[in-house]
Amino acid sequence: MFPFMPWPSYASWSDEDLRAVWLYLRSTPAISHDVPPSTLTGDAAGARGVARGAGIFNVYCAACHGERGRGTSLTTFALRDLAKDMDEDALTAFIVDGGSSAGVGMPPFGKTLTPDQIKDVLAYLRNP
Ligand code: HEC
Repeated sequence: MFPFMPWPSYASWSDEDLRAVWLYLRSTPAISHDVPPSTLTGDAAGARGVARGAGIFNVYCAACHGERGRGTSLTTFALRDLAKDMDEDALTAFIVDGGSSAGVGMPPFGKTLTPDQIKDVLAYLRNP
């Protein structure tokens, strides 16, 4: 399961590969069209609580944390086990800031998810 842009797959690209893609994109002609802001769809948009948390998790977290938080090769532990023991404030703070302070490759979600959406993701993680 991948989010809109599967950035974990690009994490291992070399600077040379990234530069080559950038050069290719710069070489294509510009086109003009409207790009509406992204919105949550399906379960993530309509549901509340655990069901909405599941939709959000599948879009934003599952690529690195695996289906139902079981882990992937990118993560060393099962998030759903950890989430049961960790304090709500500590979990929320980590999700808002991402792994930058801990030095892990997790992006910050403080500007992507609202406080209510983070609460729903945590509710889902505790009841996957
Ligand atoms: C690009 C990959 C990536 C994405 C996307 C991602 N994470 Fe993480 N996350 C990590 C990595 C790497 C760690 C470090 C721990 C590990 O090795 O498992 C981590 C750790 C965590 C931790 C543990 C914090 C601690 O104190 O040990 C929590 C909680 C967490 N992630 C929640 C989430 C939630 C919720 C989402 C979705 C909103 C998410 N993550 C999306 C990569 C990611």
